[in-house]
Formats: sequence, structure tokens, C-alpha cells
Amino acid sequence: MYSEKVMDHFTNPRNVGEILDADGIGEVGNAKCGDIMRMYLKIEDGIIEDVKFKTFGCGSAIASSSMATELIKGRTINEAMALTNKAVADALDGLPPVKMHCSVLAEQAIKSALLDYSKKSGVHIDGLEDVNFDDDHHHDVHEH
Ligand code: FES
Repeated sequence: MYSEKVMDHFTNPRNVGEILDADGIGEVGNAKCGDIMRMYLKIEDGIIEDVKFKTFGCGSAIASSSMATELIKGRTINEAMALTNKAVADALDGLPPVKMHCSVLAEQAIKSALLDYSKKSGVHIDGLEDVNFDDDHHHDVHEH
């Protein structure tokens, strides 16, 4: 049911932890399953220099956050903004349909952390104003 990559990132997640002097911290949750994901970003000159996460949730949420951090580390803010939950799931060689919302949490957690960074630093980030962190709405947009 789960790909080898999902199992790998679940049993050996990358970038777990916190960044104490993070430039942006995002936290999102899914009301239905109760899982929570927190994402910490260190940003310098528009580049995601470091990223760490803490996920209180299911294995797919842990694998999704691990993969998502790997996909945005060293990338630009705009590249991180462009990361979709589908890209996270694809990089994991797929998730079962009932677990796609776990990858949605990863996308939202990154955007939530970028929003926090934007507010604290005053740096404008294109596209952030369109982000909706409401679970159900987000599902409609990205899950199918
Ligand atoms: Fe909800 Fe995985 S079951 S995040």
C-alpha cells in the first residue's frame, strides 16, 4: 500500500526538529484527523537556508513533511511557494487517496511559515495572499 519512499521517509525522516532563531514558523492542522504540522524556516537573501519540521501525526504526514523539507531546502522562496501537495506525493512515489490530505498539510505548513516570515520581515511574497488555509477548501483545489 505504501511506496518504499514513503516507508523510508517515515522511518528515517529528514530535517526533524526546530530552528530556535527561525525567520518563519508555520503551523497547520487537519480538523478531521487532528494531525498537526509545524515548519521552521531560516531564510537568507530569498533562499531557504534551513528548514526543520515537527509533525504530530500519521506516518504519511511525517513522510510528506520530510520530503517537503528536502524539496525546498536550498531553494528560493518562489520555488517553495510553487511546491504543491501533488509534487510532494509524486516525489514519494504516490500516496493512497485517503492519505492525500497528509501531503496537503505539508504544502500548507510551508506556506504558513512563509506567511509568518513575510509578516515579520516585511518581504512581500507573490501568491501568498491567495493561499487559503481552510482544510476543506484546500482539498477541493488540490486533492483531486
Ligand atoms: Fe491526517 Fe495523515 S491522517 S495527516
